[in-house]
Amino acid sequence: MELKGKRVVLGVTGGIAAYKAAELVRLLVRQGAEVQVAMTEGASHFVTATTFQALSGRPVFTDQWDARMPNAMAHIDLSRQADLILVAPASADFLARVANGMADDLLATMVLARDCPLLVAPAMNRQMWENPATRRNVAQLQADDVGILGPACGEQACGEVGAGRMLEPEEILDEVQSFFTPKLLAGKKLLLTAGPTFEAIDPVRGITNLSSGRMGFALARAARQAGAEVTLVSGPVALPTPAGVERIDVRSALDMHAAVMARAGAVDIFVGVAAVADYRVANAADHKLKKDLGGVPPIELVENPDILAEVAALAEAPFCVGFAAESRNLDEYAQAKRRKKNIPLIVGNLIQDGFGGDDNRLVLFDENGVHPLPPAAKSVLARQLIEHIGQLTGNK
Ligand code: C5P
Repeated sequence: MELKGKRVVLGVTGGIAAYKAAELVRLLVRQGAEVQVAMTEGASHFVTATTFQALSGRPVFTDQWDARMPNAMAHIDLSRQADLILVAPASADFLARVANGMADDLLATMVLARDCPLLVAPAMNRQMWENPATRRNVAQLQADDVGILGPACGEQACGEVGAGRMLEPEEILDEVQSFFTPKLLAGKKLLLTAGPTFEAIDPVRGITNLSSGRMGFALARAARQAGAEVTLVSGPVALPTPAGVERIDVRSALDMHAAVMARAGAVDIFVGVAAVADYRVANAADHKLKKDLGGVPPIELVENPDILAEVAALAEAPFCVGFAAESRNLDEYAQAKRRKKNIPLIVGNLIQDGFGGDDNRLVLFDENGVHPLPPAAKSVLARQLIEHIGQLTGNK
């Protein structure tokens, strides 16, 4: 419930992407937002008000002269109650009207009368998006501090391919969550590692650790939403890249080490979430090992570099955060790791609490003591951890 108590006016304008606004309402409501839908006349040719009413649990407004508002001030009342006005899809016509301060229907009037921020997710044919008139209108909206979400490139309802597709509802939800996240890490560069590493034995076999990468990816997303510039160095995982995050895919601990060391000197914060294999195979075979060679293949192991400890030892070290996944004695082992690696903050978790799943339980150990976080979804824990990092790095 990342949007609990947030009041969002969702404006829907005329365009085929209006059907996706129905899904957007569902996602916003599921995150706890109070969603008030206002539609233009054009939108009602694509989706009915009944759909939005059922999904938002509130009456939908389309008409400036709606008799349900006792003082005939729907435009003022509805927009003044909002924390955010989001228009998705926003048609070319609607962008033009807002850019020019027009108030010729309820939604445009609400936008003009607002005292809260406005985000728009444009959706239109690619030629309309590229038209100089639309370019001018978008530039004007940006100058007026209107947030423009997208549009994406891709196949369009008209059969053409290009820029103008509305962002997907999940992507718009992500932007809305980001909008409501305090920018505790604004201006900070954050580098993090996530997932396992894979150390080859031969071209098809290897040594790895169990790690879904979910905690690291959730942290990358939360850090981005908190305003950081985020680079995520990821081992092999099956997860989508969080919006706005630069991702570098690696396989082995040595690859991860190289990718991190090339960047660590230029960042403010480094978070090592990856489950790096402690050892790699010194004598990895170029060809697949055959069983019929007789005997067990000799596998020689050599120790991998400790990426986190090396970053922490840099002359201009960033603020370093480590993870300690333990199966027992969490406090003792985590504290010992924090001292050994010489880092200000280590995040402990018991393997049985969170491995591979969506939820986890974390304990933060820093110079001020021990801070347990109650069990929660990894996305929630990620936000709490980012808040903690934001507090510890606030004055640096
Ligand atoms: O030493 P241990 O593996 O238990 O420490 C875990 C922490 O150190 C994690 O933050 C992990 O990402 C980091 N680490 C590392 N390079 C290694 C081993 C661990 O960065 N070779």
